[in-house]
Amino acid sequence: MEKQVLDFRNPKLVVDSSNLEEGEIKWRSPSNIAIIKYWGKFGIQYPQNPSVSFTLENAYTETSFSYSTKKNIEKNIELDFYFNGEVNVPFGEKVIKYFEKLVPVFPFLRQLKMTIRSSNSFPHSAGIASSASAMSALALCLCSFEDRVFGTLSDIDEFRRKASYLSRLGSGSACRSIYEHAAIWGESGEVDGATNDYAIPFSESLHPVFKTFHDDILIISKGEKSVSSTIGHGMMDGNIYANSRYQQARQRFHDVLIALRQGDLESFGRIAEGEALTLHALMMTSYPPYILMKPNTLVVIRKIQEYRKRTNQPLYFSLDAGPNLHLLYPDEIVGDVQNFIESELKQYCEDGQWIKDKVGGGPLEV
Ligand code: DP6
Repeated sequence: MEKQVLDFRNPKLVVDSSNLEEGEIKWRSPSNIAIIKYWGKFGIQYPQNPSVSFTLENAYTETSFSYSTKKNIEKNIELDFYFNGEVNVPFGEKVIKYFEKLVPVFPFLRQLKMTIRSSNSFPHSAGIASSASAMSALALCLCSFEDRVFGTLSDIDEFRRKASYLSRLGSGSACRSIYEHAAIWGESGEVDGATNDYAIPFSESLHPVFKTFHDDILIISKGEKSVSSTIGHGMMDGNIYANSRYQQARQRFHDVLIALRQGDLESFGRIAEGEALTLHALMMTSYPPYILMKPNTLVVIRKIQEYRKRTNQPLYFSLDAGPNLHLLYPDEIVGDVQNFIESELKQYCEDGQWIKDKVGGGPLEV
């Protein structure tokens, strides 16, 4: 496993402290919704099965990375972390730990005095997982720093691969946020270049109907999750269904890629919903078992199924590791679906809150 970290090890990435001008780099990076879920990992954040996701547009993190050279020559990581304009010590400590892991890749991290300011486009208390957007925004800033100061990442594909790799070390699902429209992460004989180390783009193979797909997020509950994703992944190791699950994920991965290439909405929707419910079934069959859905999650799922029957429209749902629902549907029915949400679903959302989102163009340097 260690080998993979060593692959990007580069002792030459040391700054000339007497010559480095202070500067700032800023990236906006989106969240993503997995269609085939990553649930279960091994080694250093390697997935047990390949996953595929849509990159979102409106749910993003914006991170600014300011740097100057350190006055002292101590070897510790020196950074101040602000979240939504206020110092945030717990988040800062997480970033320091992450940067310590990255020192063999980026030795300059020990030479800089850094200030990181991060904020999310969605309300902090909305109960939306933000590790994917946060970790990818941070990794992109570090890669831009490398390119700006050393000029060693001018090839866009190489830049994105490295950013995805570093994002993965921060949070597995974050590695998929680097690419526009859709991304694949995890070894698979199905797709050339697919690897556990970083995600690769899938946009070129994606049918146009999915490039303008919607993903409206219904905030069923804003509360903090009782079991974090990282702990949930760990519990897969003792889950008696784990191996069958990984096999199922590979089969569904194969099937959904066909649907994504062909624009087959019905197969896509059946698999997406199957994955969402399997994810939660795995939680319920962990030891100790746990439930992250809320009663209103089930009420809304039932309403979506009824709507589909009544209208024959391709409206489907997905779930992350939490109670909130993602409504997936093509652009041509946006008016009908959003009326449906306003009139029949909004009442089941906490404080009536829901967020309009859609498949997006990927991260942006701002
Ligand atoms: C249910 O990427 O948040 O969203 O690697 O421990 O940071 P860590 O976990 P994380 O897990 C995401 C799980 C998921 C499915 C997915 O995005 O594929």
